[in-house]
Amino acid sequence: MRSSAAPALLKLLDAGERARYEAFLRDEPRGLYLTAHALLRELVGAELDRDPAEPAFSAVCRHCTSGGHGKPVLPDSPLHLSLSHAGDTVAVALTYAGPVGVDVEQVGRVGDPPLAVLSAEERAAYDRLPAGERARGFIRYWARKEAVLKATGDGLSVDPALLTVSAPDEPAALLAWAERAQPHLPVRLYDVPAPGDCLAAVAVLGDECRVVRHEVAYDGDGVLRRPRRAGD
Ligand SMILES: CC(C)(COP(=O)(O)OP(=O)(O)OC[C@H]1O[C@@H](n2cnc3c(N)ncnc32)[C@H](O)[C@@H]1OP(=O)(O)O)[C@@H](O)C(=O)NCCC(=O)NCCS
Repeated sequence: MRSSAAPALLKLLDAGERARYEAFLRDEPRGLYLTAHALLRELVGAELDRDPAEPAFSAVCRHCTSGGHGKPVLPDSPLHLSLSHAGDTVAVALTYAGPVGVDVEQVGRVGDPPLAVLSAEERAAYDRLPAGERARGFIRYWARKEAVLKATGDGLSVDPALLTVSAPDEPAALLAWAERAQPHLPVRLYDVPAPGDCLAAVAVLGDECRVVRHEVAYDGDGVLRRPRRAGD
């Protein structure tokens, strides 16, 4: 990100977002945070026909009341949203279908995968993968599981190993959720193409829906206002 572009994007953020932006110690995550939140505001503004700086997002934590963190929501709006960042990629999901979670992960950053996040069934399927497919397979599992946990708002306060999603080479689906106290709405899970060596997934709690993907190239002058439709 060119630093000269930051003022244009910063103007879109509210005071809380700006404080978080300033608190980053390193340029890379700071730039990614700014891009993600500016993009979210551009897209929500376009969808609701409002100034992108206007929406007052809040964060809802399912596990505490301290505030300031958790699933982003737009109070008093039927629009559900989620965002994710990895490497130099940002993903934003918007829908009226129900609570949504998106996750994008970079395969190249996986290193030694933390296999404890896999359920016994997932681990067995993972172990059957050829060695060369394991890094990608693990990230596929991880993106699907985190998308579900972001849709419900649990995040990683719930052990991802309690969820079982379909094997990496099978259509995305949540197969089981052990110890889930409350039944939840049907979880619809979708793999979404992502640039470079990233993999992404979207989960929606509610009716089956069609995922429409747009790619927005950051041109250094502000988040583009005319996203290019990249497919379903
Ligand atoms: C949310 C979480 C899954 C993010 O994982 P990640 O891979 O590091 O980050 P991603 O880029 O994919 O997603 C980050 C975004 O998720 C959103 N988010 C944060 N908490 C969330 C939650 N509980 N549910 C859904 N979305 C959440 C935010 O928009 C955040 O973006 P921001 O930091 O720029 O505001 C993980 O950090 C987490 O679960 N944290 C909270 C753990 C928790 O709840 N602890 C108990 C507190 S009482």
